[in-house]
Amino acid sequence: MKNLFILDHPLIQHKLSLLRDKNTDTKEFRELVSEISMLIGYEVTRNIPLKEVEIETPMGIARTKVISGKKLGFVPILRAGLGMVDGMLKLLPMAKVGHIGLYRDPVTLKPVGYYCKLPVDASERDIVVLEPMLATGGSASAAISFIKEKGVKNIKLVCLIASEAGIEKVTGDHPDIEIYCAAVDKELNSQGYIVPGLGDAGDRLFGTK
Ligand code: URA
Repeated sequence: MKNLFILDHPLIQHKLSLLRDKNTDTKEFRELVSEISMLIGYEVTRNIPLKEVEIETPMGIARTKVISGKKLGFVPILRAGLGMVDGMLKLLPMAKVGHIGLYRDPVTLKPVGYYCKLPVDASERDIVVLEPMLATGGSASAAISFIKEKGVKNIKLVCLIASEAGIEKVTGDHPDIEIYCAAVDKELNSQGYIVPGLGDAGDRLFGTK
């Protein structure tokens, strides 16, 4: 699948295994989510443009490269996406952060937005949507639609674990979106949890269960 990037770097895979372990406690879980997000961020930013500059070293002038002022924004989907923000910001501290909250309507089962605050200049930015667990894909797809409605042209989706169904949903609704993840799991259970997955990412991040 041309828009799906499964990141098989040994560090990412090792940390993901620790993250999946039910005995990993909240503190370690949070640290691992942050570290994996940073490592994925390294891949997501592989093609951001550079420009040449001259830098004076203690020994002379170096013609070298810096990021060319490309504007980025991170948009975590509440609440578990919050756990991925600081890892991404460690790499790109100048990026702005928006937030999107959605709930599932109990009757239609469709995602409904209850909160959406994006950077004012979102339409000029490349936006990276953060959703640790791409399960049914309904929330991620709806979040991407909201962001597109604000005029954003370039959107990527970053997950830790994606289900096959979630990938199908997002690529079906948004064929232009690149998805980055550390693993793809086959199954979803009847409550929409990824199996084997890692459980409820929000509860494990915030210690709410
Ligand atoms: N959200 C989670 O936190 N975990 C899943 O497995 C699916 C959705």
